[in-house]
Amino acid sequence: MPKNPDSNSGFNRRSFIKGAGMTALAGAAGAVATASTSASAQSSSSIPKLANGKYDFDTPYNRVGSNCARWDSPGLNYPAGVFKYGMGVASIDFECAPCITEALAERTNHHNWGYMSSTQPLRDGIVGWNGERHGVELDPDSITIASGVYSGMIAAMRAFIPAAGKLLLVTPVYSGFYTMARNAHVATVDSQMIRKNGRYEVNWKDLEAKMTSDIRAMVVCNPQNPTGNVWTEEELLRMGRLALEHNIVVLSDEIHSDVIRSGHKYVPFASLPDRAVVNNSVSFNAISKTFNMAGMKNAYFYSKSPTMLDRVDQYHHAELSTLGVAANAAAYRHGAEWFDQANAYLDENHTFMENYIKQNMPDVVYTKNEGTFMTFLDVSKIMTSIGAAEQYIAAEKASPEYYFRDWLVHNSGVYLNPGSVYGAGGEGHVRMNLASSRMVLKEVLDSMTMAFNKV
Ligand SMILES: Cc1ncc(COP(=O)(O)O)c(C=O)c1O
Repeated sequence: MPKNPDSNSGFNRRSFIKGAGMTALAGAAGAVATASTSASAQSSSSIPKLANGKYDFDTPYNRVGSNCARWDSPGLNYPAGVFKYGMGVASIDFECAPCITEALAERTNHHNWGYMSSTQPLRDGIVGWNGERHGVELDPDSITIASGVYSGMIAAMRAFIPAAGKLLLVTPVYSGFYTMARNAHVATVDSQMIRKNGRYEVNWKDLEAKMTSDIRAMVVCNPQNPTGNVWTEEELLRMGRLALEHNIVVLSDEIHSDVIRSGHKYVPFASLPDRAVVNNSVSFNAISKTFNMAGMKNAYFYSKSPTMLDRVDQYHHAELSTLGVAANAAAYRHGAEWFDQANAYLDENHTFMENYIKQNMPDVVYTKNEGTFMTFLDVSKIMTSIGAAEQYIAAEKASPEYYFRDWLVHNSGVYLNPGSVYGAGGEGHVRMNLASSRMVLKEVLDSMTMAFNKV
């Protein structure tokens, strides 16, 4: 066994600290620089302690140099020093729940990594969490464990959509569904939502018109990423009944189901009060958004119809890792308190951001999301002011929204996701992640405001 595990893992502590000083954290103002100076403490200390019964989400947790997609990837595409803030990828910046670090530490005390025997602790966790928090009763045997929502969804698309069949998406929606459809060799059709009084609504007439005989499955994303819609029981039933009438299977992606803003309620598709609608669906979920464990590769899917589940299972095979199972099982069992505090903090971030935008960014349109830790900002006025629609071709960008994304990085250091990747209705928008320390969030918003004010 190597004496210095860092030398093997690609996570080099010295370069981590140096990296932290060189990119976002060094370039940023005093508040965030605090994170830079505490990076060595963070990387050498182990498990976060509670202060007065509270976890600390305020002190920025430095992820730069840890090979993370959110903070380390975007900079590779810009000249050194230009990129500062990774506010795109849907991952959380907080130090994880202590129970996760504890479970991993305990398992690494045993130095053998052969095949794992059972995923039972994970199954028990899934059943307990969904029952206690969301009132949905799951039979452990009706759950298929997956390495991600991606692999389950791709299997379902292959199972239900024959050659020349299509997948229906209610848009703007998570760009990953287009990738999954490509992987399953399936074409997609968009039904664009309408924005009414600050909320996205399904365009029912359009949705039904798009339910032609070649559409064989539709995705219900609840909460909807990136718009943040948390669908009501009435909306879910209406989508479910339309799908059933048109012989379309519902694939319900509920990966953001725990991250619900106060005043809203997540309704699991499988809990709808219509047996036929429920039996026409497969639900996909994970605890990876809840606890920021996307790198631990665990998810699951289930159906109240054994036949439907069996069809997906025929196209699916999961490869899980021992550490991923240990981490996920620990989060289900012991993480509720951490998550409730984190979610309350995210709620305040949403309110903070809504107020900040109203007060300081007159050209940006945004209403607080109902769920998720993402926001979808209408920046069309600023895009017009910088001539994005005219400039993007000469600048060799894929769309005006990509042009805006790069303009913003060059003018503020802030990296966001271009709205055009989320299908019809994404034009003129960017997606921004607000799951960060509020200090960082404010600094990011200040940088964006300065850039917008110069236009
Ligand atoms: C709606 C939605 N589905 C699926 C995923 C990806 O899931 P996984 O990492 O489990 O494959 C994401 C990630 O952001 C997402 O937002």
